[in-house]
Formats: sequence, C-alpha cells, structure tokens
Amino acid sequence: MRNIIYLFIVSLLFLSCGGGGVKPPEITDKVSVGLGLHVMPFHKTTLLAGKISIVPRLYEFFDDGSKGNIDIFVTNAKFYLGGKIIGESYEKPIMLKGDVIYEKNGVYPFKVVTVATDGKKYEFATNVTISNVSLTVKIKMKEPKPEGMEIYLAGSASVLVKKGMSTEWNATALKMKKINDLEYSATFKAGLNETVFMEFTLGSWATKARDEKNELIHTSTVVKKDGQVFNVAIDNWGKTIGKTSIEGWNIGFTGDGKNLTFTYSQKNEKPNQINYAFAGEKFVSKSFSNTQYYSFDFPAKWGSELLINIQGQKATNSFILPKKGLPFTFLKVGDIHCNATTVIPALMAKETNIAFVMDTGDLVMDGLKAADWNSYYSLNRCYLKKFLYQPAMGNHEYESPFFNYITGKPKWYSFTWENTYFICLDNNNNIETGSPQVKWLEGELKKAAKYKFRIVYMHIPPYSSKKHGDDEMIQTHLVPLFDKYGVNLVFCGHEHGYEVSYPMKANKKADKGTIYVISAGGGQFLYDVEKESEWSRIDKRTFNYMRVTVYSDKIILNAIDDKGVVFDTFEVK
Ligand SMILES: [Fe+2]
Ligand SMILES: [Fe+2]
Repeated sequence: MRNIIYLFIVSLLFLSCGGGGVKPPEITDKVSVGLGLHVMPFHKTTLLAGKISIVPRLYEFFDDGSKGNIDIFVTNAKFYLGGKIIGESYEKPIMLKGDVIYEKNGVYPFKVVTVATDGKKYEFATNVTISNVSLTVKIKMKEPKPEGMEIYLAGSASVLVKKGMSTEWNATALKMKKINDLEYSATFKAGLNETVFMEFTLGSWATKARDEKNELIHTSTVVKKDGQVFNVAIDNWGKTIGKTSIEGWNIGFTGDGKNLTFTYSQKNEKPNQINYAFAGEKFVSKSFSNTQYYSFDFPAKWGSELLINIQGQKATNSFILPKKGLPFTFLKVGDIHCNATTVIPALMAKETNIAFVMDTGDLVMDGLKAADWNSYYSLNRCYLKKFLYQPAMGNHEYESPFFNYITGKPKWYSFTWENTYFICLDNNNNIETGSPQVKWLEGELKKAAKYKFRIVYMHIPPYSSKKHGDDEMIQTHLVPLFDKYGVNLVFCGHEHGYEVSYPMKANKKADKGTIYVISAGGGQFLYDVEKESEWSRIDKRTFNYMRVTVYSDKIILNAIDDKGVVFDTFEVK
C-alpha cells in the first residue's frame, strides 16, 4: 500500500495567550505527526509521551472557496504548567477548535480554544502556514469490487504526475483506501486553485470507471481549499455492452509456428460451421454452436494456399500462407484506432511476401464497445484477409475480452520466426518486477538467448518526445531486462507519429544497445513533437507503417508514410 502523500505543512507558532488570566499550557516537545503536519513547540509546557495531530476536517466544500475550518486533536498527551498537570487526554482526544480562512498558500491567523483539567479555558493565537493542500477523492460504487482487485486513482495533480503519469491511468497511480465495501477514498497533495483531472480504475485499463451508458468517467475539480472532498459515483467498471453483432475473422499463429489460429466472430448466437482445406486436400469441418466467438488451432502448411468456407457464405476465401526461410519481411503498424479516414491499411494490403503483421495496439477507440470492433473489421479487412496477424493490446482495448475473441491472442505471448524470437507484452497490465508478466518475460528472454535476434513489442514506449513523454515504470522494470538479455529492437505505439532512438543502454544513448521504435501512425490524429531528446535519432509527426526485413545477419527497417513513400531507413546488426 502506497503511503498517502504529505498533504500540506502546517506550522503552529505560539504567539499570545488569554482566557481566565492563566498562562496557557505550553508544550515543549516538537512533534511531527499525522498527515505531514508539522507542529512547532508551544512555550514552556511539557508534553509527555504525547501525540499531537492536526486533522483537517473533511467538510462540505464552499463554492466560493473562501472559508474553511481546521480542527486540532491532541491525543494521549499531558499538559504541564509549573510541574502541575493542567490538561490531559488519553483515548479521547482533546479537540482544539479554530477557524481559518485560506484561499492560497501563505500564513494565516488561527485561534485555538481548549479546556484543561483545571476547568479553565485556554486560548491560543497562532499562525497556520499553508504551502500545499489536500484533496480527498471519495468514490461510491453500486456493487462491491471483485476480490483481489485494487482500485486506483489517476490524475493530473502534481504528485500523481511525478509518479510517471499524466492524465492517463497506469499502475503507478494512487491506490485508493477502503472505507467500506462500496466506498473508497484517496488523499493527495495539490496546489490551491490547481485543476485536477481524475479517472479511476479497478486495476487495469479494462476496468476504468464507467457511467450507466458505459462511457468513461473522467472528472475534474478546482482545488479551492485544504481538505476539499470530491465525491464521484461509479456505476460500473468497464463491462462490455450486452449483446453484440460483430462479424469477421483473422488468422494468426502460435509460438513455434507449427499451428495457425483461426478466430471468428459471428453476428448471432447460432449453430455454425467452418470448413478449411489446404489446396488439393479434403476440407475439414469445424462446428460450433450457440457462441458468437470461436477460435481453433490447426497445423500450418507454410507456403500453401488455405481455403476457408464459412457456412452460409457463398464465397470460399483463399489465403496464401507465407513461406518460411530467410530473409523474411513483416509489417509493423500501430494506433489505427479504427479511424475511418486512414489510408495506411490499404497501403499495407498492397504489400507482397509478408510473413505477418505486427500491430502494437490501439486497434480501436473503445475496446469494450462492439461497434468499434465492427469498424476495426471493415477498416482492416483488406490486409487481415491476406496476412497473418500478431497484435499487442493497446490502452484503448481496455483489456477487453473482445481483444481475445477477435484476435485469438492472449494478453502477452511469444513466437519465433526463423532466427528471431518475438515477445509481445501487455503494458496495461502489471509490469513491475516480480509480477507474473515480468517473471514470464525473463523466462522468455533466457530462451531467446540462442536466437540471432530478440524483438519485443508492446503498446507504450519507455521513451518519447511527444505527448505522453517517458514512462518511468517501463524504464525501471522492463528496460533493465532488455539491456541484460540483449534485446535488439523494441517496437511500440501509443505516441501517434514516428520516433526512433539511437542504441540505448541503462536509459541512455550508447554505442551498442537496444533500439526503440515508435511507429504509431496507423491512422489516429497525430501528436506534435514536443521536445528534442538526446536519445532520439528521428522524430516525425507523420502517418506511417513499417516494412521490416530480417536477414541472417542484419535487420533492415523502412518507415513508409501515407503517400507510400519511404521516409526513414535503418539497419540493426
Ligand atoms: Fe493511440
Ligand atoms: Fe495508446
């Protein structure tokens, strides 16, 4: 559990006294407590084994942001005056009340009144210094969360951004604390008048908070005073929309290339049959019933024509399987986002002698919506019916079960093709050292040692000079493994455009090392180049896909723009 971050710093300074003509209790210890509050010593009084907490009361928020309260609780404390106990508090805290007006960072006058055991009233005048304030976000859900899932808050507040995130969720976001089965809260530091954008997830992109229309809940507030509480109601956590009518198919292959995986989505739940044959052979029938999504593996015959006939469809589809052998060429694309304006899929479909298509994700806009997958099919059909397809999951797939139903792929997987070991990661999921995925990754990288080349692909890049910038989580947890096991190339998407690093080691440009490639120009609107980075060899705001040819001793990469023109070529040895 991550600690709640310090909320703000309050210094109480004794200034004057009054009430009953008696000197106020004076505390000689300097105590730092609770939510990062700092209490300066009061004059002369001894505090024995005490604890002082200053707790900002969670009160309703005033729209004008003009006035707030602060309560001071003193627990397990004894107040001495001239050797005599004048006040004490054990289990039950003494509450020192006061009002303070603060609209911005600064020093504010603050009054404390308390009653000591001698029955006398003591009053303190103090100053409260506010340098940062706290925002508590509370959510209320309709249903309890499933066992084993954690609720995270992401946002744009300074403290969250420092943790390597912007307005988008990742696993470094703040873990929310349970109040009861239906309510959770998180408290963090923000600047007064800072606008904080927030979103909530149940542990992954798949389960972002959604309203009753299945729309994502993004919300924001302006922090106007300390201790502000922000309440959000959450209807569901990324449930896919009920009945679907997705129709289409594609073919990929399994790890060692011995089997193909045929994946089919049919419009309605009804009995159906798929017949397939390699040219010159008898058709094999595969029947399935009462299911919308169907997938099966069968032995590949590389270089042969595969015929596929779906019951109820007149035409038989012809699919020419690629030949094995060196050299081989694959295409790389990313971030098509089922954007109907893109010309990249049509350009890819014109390519020939392609082993497979590698897609680094953001196939759709909202992976939980069936309509998006229909758009995906209509847009990508042109190359899916010609080429084998090996996609990674983007953040916009939201870890939707549709990703598996439609592509036949698990969240992370590996395969080999000739002299190259390919590893596909899901960096929406936990990528921390020791997590199941990262343990698996290290095992795969060990197996890959005997191959000439090691290529990793995933959606989010560790380095970027565009919108989202660098990803510290990936740099911390994945890059050391890429360095250790000599990964030659890492392909990513997410940052709409094109950027390629120099060889990298330990997160720095090096003479030898991994080359990081962002090819995320499949069709969705492009991001601007926002900075010059020392590690970056080329950074462009352009639509693109890549043609990558692997030889026995080198890899030649070409980046192709939306006019079909090669605009960058480089070699990896
Ligand atoms: Fe994207
Ligand atoms: Fe993305």
